Amino acid sequence: MRLKGKIAVITGAGQGIGRGVAEIFAEEGADVVVSDLKLDSRTDEVVSTITKLGRRAIAVQADVSKRADLDRLFDTASEKLGPVNILVNNAGIETIVPFTELTDQQWEDVTNVNLKGEWMAAQIFCKRLIAEGRPGCIINIGSIQAGKVLPGRTHYAPSKLAIEALTRNASAEMGAHGIRINCIHPGLIETPMTDWVLKSPDILPQVIAQISLGRPGKPFEVGRAAAFLASDDAGYITGQAIYVDGGWVGK
Ligand SMILES: NC(=O)c1ccc[n+]([C@@H]2O[C@H](COP(=O)([O-])OP(=O)(O)OC[C@H]3O[C@@H](n4cnc5c(N)ncnc54)[C@H](O)[C@@H]3O)[C@@H](O)[C@H]2O)c1
Repeated sequence: MRLKGKIAVITGAGQGIGRGVAEIFAEEGADVVVSDLKLDSRTDEVVSTITKLGRRAIAVQADVSKRADLDRLFDTASEKLGPVNILVNNAGIETIVPFTELTDQQWEDVTNVNLKGEWMAAQIFCKRLIAEGRPGCIINIGSIQAGKVLPGRTHYAPSKLAIEALTRNASAEMGAHGIRINCIHPGLIETPMTDWVLKSPDILPQVIAQISLGRPGKPFEVGRAAAFLASDDAGYITGQAIYVDGGWVGK
């Protein structure tokens, strides 16, 4: 159990990759704050799965694009579970719009959640760790699209490539405080976000043909990479971005 005794906050943990990370973290011994935009049967299910694994879990509503929500998320996490050791910045949204049709609102919506949200959550968490004199660890979820062009993503792709720069720059400033910050770029992972790709008889074979391992990934496979980065096994790793993509970006 690589995360025994740790407390982790995971954003967007009601489904998909966030849920996969939450469940692997619990298997690895962590208590988990399951945070999402809305609390509903999905978040209840994640909390119940974690509790059945013998770990503590709470669900906390927070919109990552709102600083007040993130402050409340970390307040609630430490009040209910104790001092937080790990943040997984996972919440994200994707829309597909041709470049010349993209509106200011569509740009802002994606950027505010995917980039500003990860930046604000990381900053709030780091300020708290520094004030308390504790080390910690952040995993930022980026995307394969940091390194691969897919059509209609001139807003989404920059928000994800920027996560790599955020990771590198913040890790350089936070290293002296014992805070490690790394990034995972997932490839095609089976989640509600990619359901339309997985169900498309035209698009899916084209994508699979570009993936060295010849299949989509599962949320738990991102979870295992995140658990490694959050653990002491990765104690000398910071500022890095790793593709968990079955060998898509390099093919
Ligand atoms: N699935 C993939 O193939 C894939 C590939 C590359 C990157 N990603 C990234 O991984 C992360 C998770 O993706 P997923 O596939 O699980 O997506 P998903 O849509 O299945 O789940 C995303 C979760 O984030 C939550 N969320 C959305 N906006 C939010 C907000 N403002 N505040 C808080 N929570 C919010 C949603 O409610 C949802 O529960 C995202 O950052 C996504 O960009 C996914």
